[in-house]
Amino acid sequence: MTSTPDAASPVPAADALTPAPGSEWWRTAVIYQIYPRSFADSDGDGLGDLPGITSRLGALADLGVDAIWLSPFMVSPQKDAGYDVADYCDVDPLFGTLADFDAMLERAHGLDIRVIVDLVPNHSSDQHVWFQEALRSAPGSRERARYIFRDGRGENGELPPNNWESVFGGPMWDRVTEPDGTPGQWYLHIFDSSQPDFDWTNPEVREEFRRILRFWLDRGVDGFRVDVAHGLIKKDGLPDYTPADDADSMGGEEQDVPYWGQPGVHDVYRDWHLVLEEYPGHRALCAEAWLPTPDKTALWVRPDEMHQAFNFPYAMTEWDAAALRTVITDSLRAFPAVGAPATWVLSNHDVIRHASRLALTAPSPQGEGIGPDSVAQPIPELGLRRARAATTVMLALPGSAYLYQGEELGLPEAIDIPDDARQDPTWFRTNHEKYGRDGCRVPIPWEAGAPAYGFNQTGLAWLPQPATWADYARDVQEGDARSTLELYKHLLAERRAHELATAPLAWLDEYPDDVLAFQVGTITVIANAGPAPVELPTGRILVASEPFEGRELPADTAVWLTTD
Ligand code: NOJ
Repeated sequence: MTSTPDAASPVPAADALTPAPGSEWWRTAVIYQIYPRSFADSDGDGLGDLPGITSRLGALADLGVDAIWLSPFMVSPQKDAGYDVADYCDVDPLFGTLADFDAMLERAHGLDIRVIVDLVPNHSSDQHVWFQEALRSAPGSRERARYIFRDGRGENGELPPNNWESVFGGPMWDRVTEPDGTPGQWYLHIFDSSQPDFDWTNPEVREEFRRILRFWLDRGVDGFRVDVAHGLIKKDGLPDYTPADDADSMGGEEQDVPYWGQPGVHDVYRDWHLVLEEYPGHRALCAEAWLPTPDKTALWVRPDEMHQAFNFPYAMTEWDAAALRTVITDSLRAFPAVGAPATWVLSNHDVIRHASRLALTAPSPQGEGIGPDSVAQPIPELGLRRARAATTVMLALPGSAYLYQGEELGLPEAIDIPDDARQDPTWFRTNHEKYGRDGCRVPIPWEAGAPAYGFNQTGLAWLPQPATWADYARDVQEGDARSTLELYKHLLAERRAHELATAPLAWLDEYPDDVLAFQVGTITVIANAGPAPVELPTGRILVASEPFEGRELPADTAVWLTTD
């Protein structure tokens, strides 16, 4: 531990948590997640599209991000908002064409913004040509071997092959009718029944995904966010498994789950690493792997595997100084220990937006979402205040950070979505017991006075936008120093100016337990997660998550101080 930094020697050397060395862009990048269906809609059909993204990239350059990650826009029946891919190498007409993609990529690169696309290797859509062929083919055929088909249990195979439960609710198996009309085999789907899992022990599947990677790399993408990167390999024999009652559906808390984090999965990424190395420049793979600790997550980013992994243990940490200190320390040891950057994320399209999540009246497990009848309800003002403080902490941390569209506007979770407008498969597969993730996926507001708040020109929106969102529109925040948008711009500019992404971090231990205090490079960060005001040390306030007078840091507020 270090003591208060003095002006002459602001960077503590001892006990500093030092980022892994390396100059590749992905080690330090701030990456902005675009959820294409909800970002900008050029043709007014109520669903965002690629030309819409291209038209709004200037706003992201102004914000100051280094890269964008696009959730899936490939051909899909949209049963799981595009995470059910029917053709991996073409754009769904809902989102545009391959030419629109190329134009978007060119514009982004012209603005010095890298582009990462989503790759969904665990499962395809049931409309994928391979699955359709499998349905038409016999048990034991080459076509069936690309997926996980098994005979059922019971006298006539009428029971599923094991007891696994889908992440979205209900059994993880569906039974098919054989081409001759008789009840037949069962196929495995970790998610919806429209998302059959590939069999990754099959070399043909591996070869197909090399082809898909090269298809997008040839078009010039800078990397891939890899969906369910911990799920591809299932334990031999597919043994029964019953999760603990309070287990998180994506496996975050569990230790040994036969479909999450099986050791064989790492060979897949070693292979992909080599595919990326065939290309010039630095291309990156980022794992979406829900694992309980930074140490476990770091197994996905060993030097010959992926380059980044989402830090979900950090994302799921509450607004609690001690817990944050632990997860940040663990992350800054675990990732650099394998030569990888730590990553940081607070929101995405699967979790309750952090402006609501950080001030809920009761816990809500990841993926379940909240709605009008949930026990857990957000306390809006407190949530936004904590979210701004939490982001002020996050953007000071060494490594790479992910932002989710709309968080720079301080958007809360949309709670009052009418039941008949909800679309998440979780809502249907749990018989409306769990609301699911629609509340974080609502089209974002650009202009307060325009139809659909500037999302398009017709006013249509695939999920209804709350009336209060006019207040969050980008145009009303632009230029207002107190707005969340200007806070984000300020943080991103100062993060870059002070090279925080590559700076060592050292904790300052003379503060109360509910205060998070650290030195990173030349910046001192103090975040007050407790109720009592905290006296600030010397130093000019460079950024404050909330305006305040004097030198007492109010509750739920964070600052960056400088002695420059
Ligand atoms: C993780 C994605 O982020 C989520 O949105 C999707 O439903 C599942 N994987 C299944 O692909």
